[in-house]
Amino acid sequence: METIDKLKQYVEQQLGDDTTGHDYTHIQRVVALAKTISEQTENDDLLIVLTAAYLHDVIDDKLVDDTYDKQKEVQSKLVQLDYTSAQIDEVMDIITHMSYSANLKHHYELTINGQIVQDADRLDAIGAIGVARAMYFGGHFGDTIYDPEQMPRNDMDKSQYREHTTVINHFYEKLFKLPDLMNTPAAKEMADRRSQYMHDFVREFKDEWQGIH
Ligand code: ADP
Ligand code: NI
Repeated sequence: METIDKLKQYVEQQLGDDTTGHDYTHIQRVVALAKTISEQTENDDLLIVLTAAYLHDVIDDKLVDDTYDKQKEVQSKLVQLDYTSAQIDEVMDIITHMSYSANLKHHYELTINGQIVQDADRLDAIGAIGVARAMYFGGHFGDTIYDPEQMPRNDMDKSQYREHTTVINHFYEKLFKLPDLMNTPAAKEMADRRSQYMHDFVREFKDEWQGIH
């Protein structure tokens, strides 16, 4: 698939040096997950799924200063790669509405292709990879790993989004909630497995913290 290869090169250039967990390896994992979910889902369009999976973080306001300019740039890139205007519209609709933060206040109804990419992105935040990414992210921003005095707070909204608590608290405010937010049955099954692993991890972590074993 020549189009996808060209798109891949563009995204690799865009995200190459990110150190907050949105690096190109995150994209590769989301693409792989999106393919797996797509194989188990009906009525989806693999070209749209893969295109949105590759592009989903390129326009993120956490990574670029001017998201409007970046959206225009992505649209031109897709025109150049011979996507139709209907395909471009769908891809833009997905990548501008799929983030967790964009859905905190109002749930946005994505197309089936968008639902697959959103599930894939969310799956990459949980399980063993999720634990690693949360610690990596916390380290980058200088957050504390854990504070036993702090009661789990699970009331994150957009205004608090950048107010970091501890890395372990991030599991309560976001990661443990993700399995119930999956759109597709295939992703739900994977999410439950990954979530089980994260609950075991946090239980073990707290026991070790207290010197229990
Ligand atoms: P989204 O992809 O919805 O924009 P984020 O950019 O918030 O999500 O998340 C990127 C990665 O960093 C995820 O794996 C997420 O769990 C992790 N992360 C985000 N915020 C925190 C935080 N406050 N503490 C630890 N990890 C975080
Ligand atoms: Ni992502």
